[in-house]
Amino acid sequence: MAVAGCGVTGRAVERNRLSLATFNPRNYTTDMHRTVDDRPYGGGPGMVMMAGPLDAAIDDATAADTEAEVVYLSPQGQTLNHSIVCELAGRKRIVLVAGRYEGVDERLLESRVDREISIGDYVLSGGELAAMVVIDAIARQLPGVLGHSDSALEDSFAGTGLLEHPQYTRPEQYRGAQVPAVLTSGNHEDIRLWRRKKSLERTWQRRPDLLAQTELSDEDRVLLQQIIDVKETDRSGN
Ligand code: ADE
Repeated sequence: MAVAGCGVTGRAVERNRLSLATFNPRNYTTDMHRTVDDRPYGGGPGMVMMAGPLDAAIDDATAADTEAEVVYLSPQGQTLNHSIVCELAGRKRIVLVAGRYEGVDERLLESRVDREISIGDYVLSGGELAAMVVIDAIARQLPGVLGHSDSALEDSFAGTGLLEHPQYTRPEQYRGAQVPAVLTSGNHEDIRLWRRKKSLERTWQRRPDLLAQTELSDEDRVLLQQIIDVKETDRSGN
């Protein structure tokens, strides 16, 4: 599987924090052509994945742990977010079912699937990429996977519910653009305040919906008011 050999997911596998196995429904067919799909009852374009091979593949995938949650990747599912990722990361074993073609026989979904998850309001040609997105997002939440133990906690959405502040690295001057002076000042309290303010500003500008759901401290409120005041001064000055 593409995600098993590289990046953060590869490291999670290497460090035995994550184990991945694939079950190809084609290996659970009984006919000579190894058929996994057929035409839809009632007519119409495209092919539908048959219940039988998927059922047998899910049996095999859940054999080691019948409590494993079976998740079907589909644009009709609940949209993936940070809290769902954390919930899935806390489970011992999950089975991700990736559909192909125009869909999967509804009887399979009704009988075997515990939940449906979408990775966004667009349609992919199959669930495999969506499954890999879920695996990547889970892997980086597992303890001992990311280099710096705090990195996952500081991600956008994690912990604070706000978008992350901007980041800079060397060189200090790049094509005429300077790293904000506060970041090279060595003053940790100033840096913390600057980052918090940028985080609030970004969330206010780009994702006001997130800001509305976040519990703000008194300090946050002061910072946010400063941001709003500056924007209003800019607007009235222009
Ligand atoms: N399969 C096809 N489109 C999908 C989506 N947006 N999310 C999850 N699985 C899918």
